[in-house]
Amino acid sequence: MPSDLEIRPVAETDLDAIFALHRRAFGPGRYARTAYRVREATPLFTPHCRGAFVHGQLVAALRFTPLRIDGSKGALLLGPVAVEPDSKGKGYGRTLIAKALEDAAADGFELVLLVGDLPYYERFGFVNVPPGQIILPGPVNPRRLLAREMVDGALSRYRGSVIAL
Ligand SMILES: CC(C)(COP(=O)(O)OP(=O)(O)OC[C@H]1O[C@@H](n2cnc3c(N)ncnc32)[C@H](O)[C@@H]1OP(=O)(O)O)[C@@H](O)C(=O)NCCC(=O)NCCS
Repeated sequence: MPSDLEIRPVAETDLDAIFALHRRAFGPGRYARTAYRVREATPLFTPHCRGAFVHGQLVAALRFTPLRIDGSKGALLLGPVAVEPDSKGKGYGRTLIAKALEDAAADGFELVLLVGDLPYYERFGFVNVPPGQIILPGPVNPRRLLAREMVDGALSRYRGSVIAL
């Protein structure tokens, strides 16, 4: 872990900095994405969200939203993950994601879902969800729908439509 990095749960007082980071990292088109549709009408942050700070300044943020998949609890949606554009490639994203996954496993979650690039996320153990197994409320490129089992065999137990809690 980069020695100057502190990772901790997100607090309400971090939200302005997080939204400003999202504007810089993703731009105005971000609300059109299907992952945003899943999170509509959910709390702005949950106890599972994490921020990464250097000398108290936010450098990266990760949101986790609890889901039901065809009624079953125990899954989280990961995203967005954003790293300050000036601070990319320093290991902040990798460190933040690894720590957030470790904490989610300790909290008893069995599966983490995300929409993203397999070449980046496979290093954390994400794999493609078999096409048609898990349905989001909007179009998703099936090659970008990824899952990480926190418990062996968990992916095969989750099938059907996703609703955020
Ligand atoms: C993607 C992102 C979270 C990565 O965080 P980061 O702190 O820059 O990345 P790290 O320093 O941990 O890791 C860098 C490595 O990831 C690789 N990488 C970064 N983005 C990648 C991508 N989309 N696909 C494949 N590899 C990627 C880099 O090439 C580098 O590889 P290396 O370790 O072999 O040198 C960050 O760049 C970001 O915020 N991007 C814009 C927003 C975004 O796309 N978020 C993800 C979708 S929700």
